[in-house]
Amino acid sequence: MGSYINVPVAPRVQDARRTESIKLYGPDAFEGMRNAGGLTAACLDGVADLVTAGISLSEINSYVLDFAASHNAMPATLGYKGYKGYKGYKYACCTSVNHVVCHGFPNEKKLHDGDIVNVDVTLILDGWYGDSSRMYSVGKPKRAAERLIQVAHEAMMLGIKAVHPGARLGDIGHAIQTHAQSEGCSVVRDFCGHGIGQVFHDSPNILNFGRAGEGLELREGMIFTVEPMINLGRGEVKMLADDWTAVTRDRSLSAQFEHSIGVTADGFEIFTQSAKGLHAPGVKLEEASA
Ligand code: MF3
Ligand code: CO
Ligand code: CO
Repeated sequence: MGSYINVPVAPRVQDARRTESIKLYGPDAFEGMRNAGGLTAACLDGVADLVTAGISLSEINSYVLDFAASHNAMPATLGYKGYKGYKGYKYACCTSVNHVVCHGFPNEKKLHDGDIVNVDVTLILDGWYGDSSRMYSVGKPKRAAERLIQVAHEAMMLGIKAVHPGARLGDIGHAIQTHAQSEGCSVVRDFCGHGIGQVFHDSPNILNFGRAGEGLELREGMIFTVEPMINLGRGEVKMLADDWTAVTRDRSLSAQFEHSIGVTADGFEIFTQSAKGLHAPGVKLEEASA
């Protein structure tokens, strides 16, 4: 019966995790997140100049690697989920093109005119994790793609704007879902936002759908991401054989934006805001800094 003792252990650990209270952070943590988030945002600002027809996804990866190295930061995705002989995720960022929903590999594939791509970067600076992603278009996107990107950004911002002490997690999901669906788009239910701080993925899960007034009550000092994935067609995803890449089952276009945020006394603070105003879609550098 040597293994008997081991049998109940895993479920108990999971139970503990599920009921674990959510961390509340103070000013030092907010400062750490502001610095890490600001660096991630600056990195994503630089990606905007790179994204042109003919560039390979691996060139974006190299840029993120170099950017991190020259700013004393580490990309959190490198080696992520590695254990025993398995080395985990191998890249400094995720690049998800067109119908790829998330976690696309920055491989040798090239970007083409009309492609849309999400670049998702998490930089660790002084132990704090800044996690953010944006959509970029190569050349002039098709009208439908442009609209999808707009809706995904609006959905994220509406989710974020629902955040204040006393609000509930369901308010965030409800705001995101309602907007996406009112625009004829779908929410991907297989992925969600997450607590973040000095670890990459923490509790709670931040679902991109839900009912207003339901779920965990938000409190000042909570830190998490809001990162809805929105599809032009249906919301179902399919995993590719590489075990990472998620694509839309109907091969419709998918778009995502992500910010790391903190709950403040009267609302929220976005840690991953672009100093150049480049986070919102369709903003050109000249307009943003004007
Ligand atoms: N950055 C993603 C997120 O928003 C996680 C990517 S994990 C990876 O949570 F291993 F796929 F890179
Ligand atoms: Co995230
Ligand atoms: Co991310």
